[in-house]
Amino acid sequence: MNDPRSAQSLKIAILSRGPRLYSTRRLREAATARGHDAKVLNTLSFSIEVESGSPRLYFKNKKLTQYDAVIPRIGASITSFGTAVVRQFEQMGVFCVNPSHAISVSRDKLRALQALSRHRVGMPTTLFVRHTSEILPGIERMGGTPVVIKLLEGTQGVGVILADTTNVAEAIIETLSGPAKMSVLLQRFVKESKGRDIRAFVVGSRVVAAMRRTAKEDEFRSNIHRGGSAEIVDLDNEYQRVAVHAAQIMGLRVAGVDMLEGKDGPVLMEVNSSPGLEGIESATGIDVAGEIIALIEEEVLFPDIDLRQRLTLQSGYGVMEVPVDERSELCGKTVRSSGLRERDVIILTIQRDSVSIPNPRNDREILAGDILLCFGKMLTLRSLAPPRRKRRKRRKADLPVVEGADPVPSE
Ligand SMILES: Nc1ncnc2c1ncn2[C@@H]1O[C@H](COP(=O)(O)OP(=O)(O)O)[C@@H](O)[C@H]1O
Ligand SMILES: [Mg+2]
Repeated sequence: MNDPRSAQSLKIAILSRGPRLYSTRRLREAATARGHDAKVLNTLSFSIEVESGSPRLYFKNKKLTQYDAVIPRIGASITSFGTAVVRQFEQMGVFCVNPSHAISVSRDKLRALQALSRHRVGMPTTLFVRHTSEILPGIERMGGTPVVIKLLEGTQGVGVILADTTNVAEAIIETLSGPAKMSVLLQRFVKESKGRDIRAFVVGSRVVAAMRRTAKEDEFRSNIHRGGSAEIVDLDNEYQRVAVHAAQIMGLRVAGVDMLEGKDGPVLMEVNSSPGLEGIESATGIDVAGEIIALIEEEVLFPDIDLRQRLTLQSGYGVMEVPVDERSELCGKTVRSSGLRERDVIILTIQRDSVSIPNPRNDREILAGDILLCFGKMLTLRSLAPPRRKRRKRRKADLPVVEGADPVPSE
């Protein structure tokens, strides 16, 4: 018991409709094994009471006692009510492993891909249309058939169909979006992935376990629920980077990130906010539930703070990103000779390509292309921003990699 965190016992709520489900049981076991008090609470037995100044939750008609942390395991069929319960916990100041907003976004395949698309994450070209007249030209732009058709909010492989010809694709889409009014996506078929995919289980800022799933014969969907089999896999850096990056962009601390093995590297499929534990723990033998509880201990004792929110409280001071280009007065200077300190500004990190240099030393040179994350007097910070160029590509989206780590190969 050298770990100081185990000294404090936490009260943890696992929101789940199935106390006997493998994932729920394992989370409760792992919490208990680490000395915490964990309760499984059926998400649907809550009532949410909204009132100014005192957001409350009732569970089976009794006012809920104070919890330290919540692990949401919200099924796809109750996303709306489930995320409302999580949101209420958030209003009450309780730490939620995955935030309600992130859960909602991850449930909508299109919305999730849209959020990820401006970042350096590979994904199959995906099309969302309203008029059937848009289908044919869209398929042609994607390189023709076969194409994958999926329901916007499908899960476990249900509603994922491979269409061999445009006629079939049109017929399927017309059927689904007809009276049934289901929204569907068209997606380029990544055929080189051959019925296989990678599930990377992200907890915090790392992949704690990963498996490769292989579809059963004559099936292109590798979901375990569709009869796929799983084996442990040692993920290379690029796959790990994409998995962690995708989870972070989505705002999920715990995520099951699904990727196909494309010919140019990882192709992101989706980011699941309530990933199952059974498949991954049995394929890898890793105590994933224990990792989730360890994350909670870390976050409850040392919570992340929202820098912007805290620092802008002192008026006139704030945090800003300062891009440096060759015209900038900072370009070519060292941190010391930049004179920023004297002007009441400190550089928190330098973002250089995909490498992040925290607390740069005084003799560190500032180069064109750097993005400086600075804290200080807003007046000075604003004067440092270069004049806007036409349609400058944002680079801050790249995952910060702490210096000293292997450089990440670009795509
Ligand atoms: N564009 C695609 N190219 C190749 N295979 C795909 C494609 N989209 C989905 N698949 C296969 O189908 C499976 C299920 O698709 P996915 O989008 O993850 O839906 P679900 O949410 O139902 O799991 C994937 O794990 C993958 O094996
Ligand atoms: Mg999937």
